[in-house]
Amino acid sequence: MKNLTADELRTMYLEFFKSKGHAIIPGASVIPENDPTVLFTTAGMHPLVPYLMGAMPHPAGNRLTDVQKCVRTGDIDSVGDAAHLTFFEMLGNWSLNDYFKKEAISWSYEFLTQKLGFSPDLLSVTVFAGEGKEGEDGYIPADEEAASIWRSLGIPDERIHRLPREDNWWGPAGTTGPCGPDTEMFIDTGKPACGPGCRPGCHCGKYVEIWNDVFMQYNKNAGGGYEPLGRHNVDTGMGVERTVCMMSGAPTVYDTEIFAPIMAKIDELSSTAPEDQELALKSRRIIADHMRTATFILCDPKGSVKPGNVGANYVLRRLIRRAVRYSRFLGIKPGFTVELAKTVCDKYSSVYPELAQNLERCRNDLEAEENRFNQTLDKGEAMFDKVAAQLKAHGQSQISGKTAFKLYDTFGFPFEMTLEMADKAGLTVDREGFEEANRKHQELSRTTSAGSFKAGLQDNSEVVTRMHTATHLLHAALHKVLGPQANQKGSNITAERLRFDFSWPEPMTTEQKTETEALVNKWIAEAIPVEKKLTTVEAAKAEGAMALFGAKYGDQVSLYTIGDVSKEICSGPHAANTSELGSFKIVKEQSSSAGVRRIKAVIGNM
Ligand code: ALA
Repeated sequence: MKNLTADELRTMYLEFFKSKGHAIIPGASVIPENDPTVLFTTAGMHPLVPYLMGAMPHPAGNRLTDVQKCVRTGDIDSVGDAAHLTFFEMLGNWSLNDYFKKEAISWSYEFLTQKLGFSPDLLSVTVFAGEGKEGEDGYIPADEEAASIWRSLGIPDERIHRLPREDNWWGPAGTTGPCGPDTEMFIDTGKPACGPGCRPGCHCGKYVEIWNDVFMQYNKNAGGGYEPLGRHNVDTGMGVERTVCMMSGAPTVYDTEIFAPIMAKIDELSSTAPEDQELALKSRRIIADHMRTATFILCDPKGSVKPGNVGANYVLRRLIRRAVRYSRFLGIKPGFTVELAKTVCDKYSSVYPELAQNLERCRNDLEAEENRFNQTLDKGEAMFDKVAAQLKAHGQSQISGKTAFKLYDTFGFPFEMTLEMADKAGLTVDREGFEEANRKHQELSRTTSAGSFKAGLQDNSEVVTRMHTATHLLHAALHKVLGPQANQKGSNITAERLRFDFSWPEPMTTEQKTETEALVNKWIAEAIPVEKKLTTVEAAKAEGAMALFGAKYGDQVSLYTIGDVSKEICSGPHAANTSELGSFKIVKEQSSSAGVRRIKAVIGNM
């Protein structure tokens, strides 16, 4: 295994595939062209969709290779751990109806073992296990062809794992388009197995996925069905950051040469460190990740995404604001976003000249957004100081849960920030009271959040909030797919999943489930703002709002409107925008009681 820099890895990859007859093409913008179903370019194949579909020939030929800037923000709340990033570079090679499994797999194997120097003994792979029954609709056979190619290369059967769709099917990038079974390659890190079921795809850290070869022979259509494409395409993806990390033996991507100058700059700008070491580490990582992503978005040649309230603009705003919030834990002075954008630009502009070219524009946007948000946070801090002074004047030393909740709810203070400030001021915080206030807020007139709140984990409550918005989308989707009879009968949300009961006499068909899921995902991709207004039940019903039959509402109710998709009376809280949900997946559909069905679903990046 060689210790390569990102620059060396990119060159080595592109040259390797050039030697196999591929044309090196430039990566595309991080802001997608003509695709309303996604906010950012999420994979190397994304800009190539028309060619994969066979709509037109690619001018550079049928074998292509490139490095693509990608943004995936569905997992934004996991950033801060060792592995999650919202921006990454993807190395890829494509066959547009040219070579297929044998060549793709053999070249992946050759590059991993001969060029990168991974020992074949450390390599495990997964292939698609197939689904359905032969002769029946929707049958897709197991990918024994891929398995036998791996065997012929010397990978023994015990290291070839057959896994279902959740693991071994990729795409489409948006809600429709090319997709297919894949084979994924994993490197065994040598860590002990987490249990008897530990295998590639397990998240314990023993196996790290390094490459994915997708065999794109299907098209997912607007109705949610899969139809054969009539073409045998190959789409592969290898993450630059993860590969560099693996090869250098660095413990996390943040410890690689890629992030080194950014982390060093953050440390230079920091003036304090919170006592909580984990929080310090998390803050550094969040700032590094989010500012790298924001810089790439703002310096994109298209220049069409600015901090704002809708769609991609909203995602960008969230990234910047989150970085600003966490910068306060490290005592970083205002103006840091521009400093970090310059560092990102220095690191990358030899590969991505657009960064240097558009830095001035990026600087202006960052300054304005940072200032705006700092004003909000300053107001919150002033309120905190007032509360602290009052408590001290009365000889008290504990901030109530209600006040902590107000700081969180009104001023966007993460609960951790209140804890940190209280600590500095020699005060304690009523954690249970905060959780109680938070829980009460979640305890909607009809949605009991029996959620598993762990101590002080406001991230959990953010997840619950988003699940709640997903519930409204699911309700609306069921009305569209099944009809207005599919009315809500109950709902229960935890940080892990949402559960939704509705009137329906029989099991939903696979098509109905797929269609429901696709609709919700379409609305998520459309990044629709969620609007709240106070009104009366009568006025809300007159507007066509859904209200629960028999529910007791007060004189004043909150009406939540999601574009023209959903309008429901509900006490909230909700995500500000559907894009915050990432993606939506139904994991179970079962009977709840006579005439009532129950759906369990999850959100996030899947
Ligand atoms: N498109 C595939 C991925 O993103 C290669 O993993």
